[in-house]
This record gives sequence, structure tokens and C-alpha cells, in this order.
Amino acid sequence: MNCELKTNRVTLREWRENDASALFALAKVPMVGESAGFPPHRDEAESLRVIREIFCKPETYAIISTEDGSLLGCINLFPRHKGESVYEAEEVELGYWLGCPFWGRGLMAEAITLLCSRCFNSSKYKCVVVVGCAKEQNIRSCRVLEKAGFVFVETKDGMCRYELTRMA
Ligand SMILES: CC(C)(COP(=O)(O)OP(=O)(O)OC[C@H]1O[C@@H](n2cnc3c(N)ncnc32)[C@H](O)[C@@H]1OP(=O)(O)O)[C@@H](O)C(=O)NCCC(=O)NCCS
Repeated sequence: MNCELKTNRVTLREWRENDASALFALAKVPMVGESAGFPPHRDEAESLRVIREIFCKPETYAIISTEDGSLLGCINLFPRHKGESVYEAEEVELGYWLGCPFWGRGLMAEAITLLCSRCFNSSKYKCVVVVGCAKEQNIRSCRVLEKAGFVFVETKDGMCRYELTRMA
């Protein structure tokens, strides 16, 4: 079970089936999925299916407003190489998105910092590097990774790769 992580502004908690309606409201907007790599949700039933079948994976969190409990977006860690578990992998990758109304407030850098700190400070993980990838044109996403302390590594096939390395 994912534990709950919190700052004054964002709370990361596991997804619940009753998030489906709020998820649909955010994920039906094409701009969100276009950058994050998923097609816009067509109806609430699809959002519920995503919660049940995809967001049930370990280290996949709903980003919630600490202030009023509303759903802001999603963040997850997954192993870079197929077949590994997120806890055993030496390299894990970040996935993340916010609903459009919540862009531009610095919320995602906060959520990323929270999740990476847990990853590096918990004996549950073997991870030494967290990788963040964003399309070259996704300036916001590249900037967020920099703000969260990630270091630019390379641009390949239009994708910028950033890394955050665990301190010895
Ligand atoms: C990318 C994303 C996660 C950024 O999160 P965020 O919390 O909105 O990011 P921030 O508020 O920290 O803004 C990041 C940068 O975007 C830029 N930015 C912010 N608002 C902007 C605007 N209205 N227009 C243009 N650029 C803007 C700024 O340069 C800012 O950096 P700064 O704080 O140093 O000025 C969010 O926009 C998102 O979810 N987008 C859709 C999904 C996506 O792209 N996911 C990532 C896939 S790799």
C-alpha cells in the first residue's frame, strides 16, 4: 500500500474509486494527456477503469490539494526496465501531470520533491537514480524537473532526459 505524503499545499495518496468523477473532469482535456502520453478520457467509466487497472500500481499517487481535498493530478514512479519491480530497480522513472486549472503554481515541483525524497530516504527502494523525461517542446515540464533538482543529461529523438541521483 502506498503511504500518504504531505506538504502544506499537496498531498500524495493512493487513488480511490470515488476519484473517478474528478479524474474525468481533468483527464478529458486533450492538452493534459497529449503531453503526458494518454488519450483524453471519454467518460467517467473510462476514468474508473484507469483507476482500477492502471492507478492501482505501486507508487502511483493521486495529487490532492492539502487545503481543500480536491484532485489536482497524478504522479508515479515506475521501473526503467521491464520485469523489475519499482522497489528493486536501480533506475526508476517519473510520470506526472496536473489538471490545466492547476498549472503555473509550482505545485508539481513540490510533488516531485516529496516523492523523490521518500524514494531516496526509504529502505524499501534500491533506487539510485530517478529519471525524468520530457518532450523538447514541453518547456514547462523540463523546467519543473530543473526546479526539483534534476540535472539535464541529453536530448535524444526529441526527448530531454534529466536525472536525480541519490546522495551517497
Ligand atoms: C508540466 C507540468 C507538470 C508543470 O507543472 P506546474 O506545477 O504547472 O509547473 P510550474 O508552475 O512549476 O511551472 C513550470 C515552468 O513553466 C513555465 N510556465 C508557467 N506558467 C506558464 C505559462 N502560463 N506559460 C508559459 N510558461 C509557463 C515557467 O517557466 C515555470 O517555471 P518558473 O517557475 O521558473 O517560471 C504541468 O504543466 C502539466 O501537468 N502539464 C501537462 C502534462 C505534462 O506535460 N506532464 C509531463 C509529461 S513529461
